[in-house]
Formats: sequence, C-alpha cells, structure tokens
Amino acid sequence: MQMNLEIRRLRKDGRIPYDLLLLADETIEAIDRYILQSEVYILERDHKAAAVYVLYTLDADCVEIKNIAVDEKLQGQGIGRSLLEDATRRATIDGYKTIIIGTGDGSIRQLDLYQKEGFEIFDIRKGFFIDNYPAPIYENGIQLRDMIMLRKQLT
Ligand code: ACO
Repeated sequence: MQMNLEIRRLRKDGRIPYDLLLLADETIEAIDRYILQSEVYILERDHKAAAVYVLYTLDADCVEIKNIAVDEKLQGQGIGRSLLEDATRRATIDGYKTIIIGTGDGSIRQLDLYQKEGFEIFDIRKGFFIDNYPAPIYENGIQLRDMIMLRKQLT
C-alpha cells in the first residue's frame, strides 16, 4: 500500500527522537555511535515524532538504514513500509547505487517486511548481538545472535 506521508529531514540542531530510536536499538550508547554522522528523517503526528528512519553513508555508492521505528500505537498500518519506500527514493535521488539494512536473526517481522520491500539477504554477521551487547536480546522468544544484512540495488 502506498501512503502519502510527509517525512522530513531533522535539522542538525533538532531534537533526536531517542524514544523511537530505542524501539529499534537496545541502548542510547549504541545509537550515539552513528546518530551524529547520520541523516535523521521523521514523520510527525500532532507535532510529535511518530516514526523515524536514519541514513548513514558507508561510501559514495552505499547507504545504510541504521534505524527504522514506528510508534508502537501506529505499527501495522503500513507506515514502516512507507518509510522504507521514502528511504529508497531519497537514496536513489542522492546517487547511491545500493541501500542496505541489518536486523536480528530472530526479527521475523522485520525480515518479512524488508524482503517484501525488495531487499535481499547478502551477508550474515555471525555473533554480532553476542559480541556487541552486554546482555542477551530476545525477540519472538529467540535469542538474537547473528545480524542478517539485506540490500537493494537502486536504479
Ligand atoms: N507479523 C509478521 N509480519 C508483519 C507483522 C506481524 N505481526 N506486522 C507487519 N508485518 C510485516 C508484513 O510484511 C507487513 O506487510 P503486509 O501488510 O503486506 O502484511 C509489513 O510488515 C508492513 O508493515 P507496516 O505496517 O508497514 O510496518 P510498521 O509500520 O509496523 O513498521 C517496523 C515496521 C518499523 C519494524 C515497526 O514495527 C517497528 O517500529 N518495530 C520496532 C522497532 C524495530 O524493530 N525496528 C527495526 C529494527 S532493524 C533496524 O532498525 C535497522
């Protein structure tokens, strides 16, 4: 479903929506490793950030969606899909050849969504969630171990 949502880039001095970003990442420390070097895009509802995605340039050809999150009350209505389409559109306009995204091996819903949006698995970062986080992370009753990397070629 194509939704017409107004998604805007956060100004460099804008308030970073950590509450939303923490839905997709475990800690503020993990977010702070990429957020200041990234572009943050937000969807607002009632003058409040309701959804967010974050683009981080890896090199001239490749950009990564480091974080994507929708307010829990608004999930399951197609907003996540629209954010991915918006990210793909902006990355294409900005001249990147590839957009990539990583998620946990137990993140069934995200893997479903990303593949429906045309992303394909190209790498598995073994032990990523064991090596980079102090405590075990569970999703859908599965302990996250490996990071599944997906990519989409842009035209
Ligand atoms: N079970 C399985 N798949 C589902 C479910 C579900 N309960 N709900 C949604 N999906 C999948 C389906 O593929 C669905 O497509 P369909 O409508 O054709 O069935 C697709 O997701 C689209 O759903 P949306 O409504 O667009 O997704 P939503 O607005 O909920 O956003 C998101 C998805 C961003 C993952 C959201 O649920 C969220 O914020 N989750 C918490 C944070 C998070 O996990 N972020 C991603 C971490 S990885 C990273 O940030 C790089």
